[in-house]
Amino acid sequence: MEIRIAENCGFCYGVKRAVNMAQDTSNHLDHSYTLGPIIHNPQVVANLENHGVYAVDSLDEIPKGTVIIRSHGVGPAIYEEATDKGLHVVDATCPHVKKAQQDAKSVIDSGMSLVILGEKKHPEVISINLWAQNKGIVIESEEEAKILPFVENRGVVVQTTFSQFKFQSIIDILEKKTQNLKVFKTICTATQERQNSAVDLAKTVDLMIVVGGKNSGNTNRLAEVCRDVGCTTYHIETAAELELAWFNQVNTVGVTAGASTPDWIIKEVIDTMNEFEELLAKEADWAEDFKKGTVVEGTVVEVDDDK
Ligand code: F3S
Repeated sequence: MEIRIAENCGFCYGVKRAVNMAQDTSNHLDHSYTLGPIIHNPQVVANLENHGVYAVDSLDEIPKGTVIIRSHGVGPAIYEEATDKGLHVVDATCPHVKKAQQDAKSVIDSGMSLVILGEKKHPEVISINLWAQNKGIVIESEEEAKILPFVENRGVVVQTTFSQFKFQSIIDILEKKTQNLKVFKTICTATQERQNSAVDLAKTVDLMIVVGGKNSGNTNRLAEVCRDVGCTTYHIETAAELELAWFNQVNTVGVTAGASTPDWIIKEVIDTMNEFEELLAKEADWAEDFKKGTVVEGTVVEVDDDK
């Protein structure tokens, strides 16, 4: 079984930056908190907790100290509230997300209608809309685009991890529904590179393993684009979820990982697949021996070639 790794996969610039900022904060300051998990990877969040950085759901849970704004960003009110509470703010919002927030704000400030392409409940999308006074309409499918009304002026901002393939087909629909359409293609480069590499790989292998948080938008999207090209795809968070049966009769396996998946998790997955390969090879040898009649109740017996 050959294992091929996607050319671009794993930690992106924005995630590395956010995790480094959180680690740096824990090294120098006591009482550090992130508002929500710093990134969508439970194992990384657990590691940070061991170093004194705790994920909380709201500023009310932080009595004092430092609040780290995660890579997905937050609305403008959170900055004001944190400052009013006397908290030290470390802003780890990914610069690509910041740009999408500012683009959404500029659309609303200029009096245009705003459409945000993305997952309605994803924290990044919520933060982008908050910068636009929550006036954006969030859609994530061609079907939702089709039922939007015709308007004169409309701006479009996109979740940074949105599928670039779906993006174009939705824009094609919106162009027919808008006289003056201004598109801010805020899908980040890391997302595009990871999706392209995943698709290229999925087209050449029997099976794809996508590694990353089940709550990670960009990892879910990687699994989606691999399935869209017809490749059998499993999305796992850790090596413990791998099943031997998946690899039976499989010659080539592709591995990719979301932008919030650390290298050590990817390595564990590859190590486990290598162990599976050895097991499957032994099973195949045993089956071959059994066919030849060289195995009797679990014992290998000598074959006399002259008989
Ligand atoms: Fe930023 Fe893109 Fe990563 S938005 S957090 S560089 S996936």
